[in-house]
Parts: sequence; structure tokens; C-alpha cells
Amino acid sequence: MEQLDLMPGEHRCPGASTRDIILADGQSVPPALVTESPAFLGDEDIAYDRYTSPAFFDQEIRKLWPKVWQWVCRTEDIREPGEFVTYDVGPYSLIIMRGKDARIRAFHNSCLHRGTQLRQPGEAGWTPELRCPFHGWTWTTEGALKSVPCRWDFPHVNDAAFGLPEAKVDTWGGFVFINMDENAQPLDEFLEVMPEHLDGGWDLSRRTVAVHVQKELNTNWKAAQEAFLEAYHVVETHAQNLPFAGDANAQYDVFGDHVSRFVHTHGVPSPHYPHPQTEQEIADKMHLPAGTIVPEGRTARSVAADWRRVNLGAKWDLDLSGYSDSEMLDSIEYHLFPNMCVFPGVSLPMVYRFRPIGMDPGRTLFDLLFLRPLKDGEEHPEPVEPVRLTHDQSYSEAPGLEPWLGATFDQDTDNLARQYRGFQSSRKRGETLGNYQESRIRHLHQVLDAYLAK
Ligand code: FES
Ligand SMILES: [Fe+2]
Repeated sequence: MEQLDLMPGEHRCPGASTRDIILADGQSVPPALVTESPAFLGDEDIAYDRYTSPAFFDQEIRKLWPKVWQWVCRTEDIREPGEFVTYDVGPYSLIIMRGKDARIRAFHNSCLHRGTQLRQPGEAGWTPELRCPFHGWTWTTEGALKSVPCRWDFPHVNDAAFGLPEAKVDTWGGFVFINMDENAQPLDEFLEVMPEHLDGGWDLSRRTVAVHVQKELNTNWKAAQEAFLEAYHVVETHAQNLPFAGDANAQYDVFGDHVSRFVHTHGVPSPHYPHPQTEQEIADKMHLPAGTIVPEGRTARSVAADWRRVNLGAKWDLDLSGYSDSEMLDSIEYHLFPNMCVFPGVSLPMVYRFRPIGMDPGRTLFDLLFLRPLKDGEEHPEPVEPVRLTHDQSYSEAPGLEPWLGATFDQDTDNLARQYRGFQSSRKRGETLGNYQESRIRHLHQVLDAYLAK
């Protein structure tokens, strides 16, 4: 198509689009996967102060984090009464706990006597009650005040008024979400298209966490996740993937205030890759077993998808024959504002989360999880313990990641501290985004502004 007459935001990489590639597979795919919803949201620079300024960070702490739904844990993390997970974001901390009535509650993690945190940051486990380590005030697993040492000295403490304050709790797809705003909109409204797109063939409640790696990053929580919201960086940062990964022709969608998506293909060369390749040569670079043959008339993409159906199907004891090649191969990433990415595809079933650590705008905790589907009737196994890496540790030190994937995440996170220093040393004072490929980043900032303006 002649692109000269197009408006800003309408230009695309020449050649086959992601949708063209998926439709050319000739299979039935979920309609949402071939729905396009691009958005041109402007082309002004985004100021670096939004990442580095303590004043801006402080606004987020006051107006974003206490007002927004955020994923805190999986329901299977807290199956029994008394099981809990501590969730920390910026200065906030909540204890997510299952009560004896089976209800999940989220208690603000601060003693009503003199403020001590009842549980430690990041702590998870089981407890028969919530007992403060300072003077021993104690609450039940349902948050009712249970005992106060020297009760005679506190005639002004009314038991009913001294229940632990709670945040709102709801669940979707096996994820527990909280919102500290008692007037928050319901979670299912907040999720917009997520349930409609994901609940059918990609039911996340029937997946379980197989790997959980946490890494501390020396950058702002927005900049950290923005490195994962576009495939524009692949050509420079992950050049090893160009023979078999669509990047410049990835698809970017914005579905509402809280949801955006990219889809980028595997098993086709990047539009940047200059060398002609046979389908066999593409397959040879795709981390398939040595000696994998692409028969005449087949594509590397279909052979790779078949191999994963067989290999992952055997590993998980599941019939994966109902999934299209795209679901078996492609990076399909939904972003849920403010800080969650979900990949509902079968072979890269990842979830990301990015949270500020404490009150430093330049520190972030990046949670990376791999899920696996459960068999019919299979119960969730015991939750895996997160492995925590410092900012200078490699993903190769975390068990459970394939080496090529670990190397890819190292490439991603290695850029971030350097970028953050560049925010501070810049004379230009703002970033200039691509109109299409970086539209999800601009969308994130515009939605954030709407929260800060409330
Ligand atoms: S601060 Fe918790 S019991 Fe005193
Ligand atoms: Fe990357």
C-alpha cells in the first residue's frame, strides 16, 4: 500500500503484518487474536521528570497506587485459613490472608497500637493469628482484635473499632487483586476486555505458577515495564532473534483505559533481517531439537508449532492440538494498567509485574512468572518460592529458565540502569516515541495522567 497519504500513526512496516502472518497459517484462531485496535495518541515528547522526579513519584504514591486495582498473588497461594502473602508497593504494605470463613481479605500491614508492621515485606506462609512483635497485640485471621496485653490500660480501645483496616479484594483468572480505595469501580469493569479476550480458550485460573523470579532494577517502575511494551528494541537489543522473530511488523492495540496488547510472531524472519533463508534455515535457529526437518511444502513456523504441541503436550500431559500455531508460538502480551503484563499464549505463558520499591523513584521490583496449564481435574500444586535476584545478577542464576530466554531477559534488564542514568544526564529532557510501535507507552502515561488529575 502507498503510505504517503497516511496520517501520523497510520504508517506501518512494509510487508506482511502480524495479522497477515496469522491468517496465512490457515487455521481457526480466537477472533480476539486477529482483531486490530491501533491508537494514535499524539507525538509530543514525554518528560524524563515523570521517571526521576521525587515530586512526580510522590503524586503517584498518593493518587495512583491507593486508587487502582493491582494483582497481589494467586488464589492458590492462600488456600487454607491463615495462609497469607505480604504485598508491598512503594510505601504501602498489605497482608493478603484467607480467613476461617474462606474469604480472602487484604489488611493494611500496620499495628493499630504503634504502627509496627505485623508481617515482614515479601513474607508468605501460615499463621494462626496476626500478632505484633512489639507489644503483642493480636488479631484473628479475619482481622478482629483478639487480645491486648494489659487490657486494663486501654479502656479507650473499643474492640469493634480496632479491627484491622482492609482494602477491597476481588479475583480474576486465579489472580487476587486489591484496591485500597473503598469507592473503587468493580474489578470486572476495570478489567475491560480482558475477561472477554482471555477467559474462553486461555483460562488463566487453570494455570499454575511454574517459575517465579524477582529482580531488583535500578530504574523507575514505568521505564522498567516500557522495555517490555514494544518490540522496537529487538533489532538492537536482541539481534540474535532477527532470523526467526517478527518485530518491526508486530501489532499494537489499545482496547480501553486499562488494557493494551502487542502480538509479535515467531517463526518468520524480522523485516530487518537482510539475508534470504529457507524455511529449514529458519527452523535451525529456533531452539528446536537438533536435526528437526522442515518437510517440503511446510513452514518453519508450522513445524515449530507442531514440535511444541508434542513436546509441551507430553511435558504437561495435555492435548494441545486445539491451539493454533499462533497461540503455540507468538508473543501475545496484554498489559493491564498500571503494572501487569499477561501472556496468554501456550508456549510463553508469562506474567510480569513492576512495582516501586520503597520511596525511591529509581528502584523497581520486577516479578517474572511462567505459568503452566493444569490437566483436567488437576489440583494446583504447592506454590513455588520466588527466587530473588539483585540488579547485577543474571537470569542464568535463576533455576527454571531456558538459557536462551535467560539471556534475552538479561539483555532487556541490562539496558535499564543505563537508560535511567541517561534520563538524568539528558539535556533534551524528554523521550521521543514512535507513533505506532511505542503507542502503548504513551497510552500508559495518558491513563496515569488521568489518575493523577482526579
Ligand atoms: S506496636 Fe504493635 S503491639 Fe505495640
Ligand atoms: Fe526485550
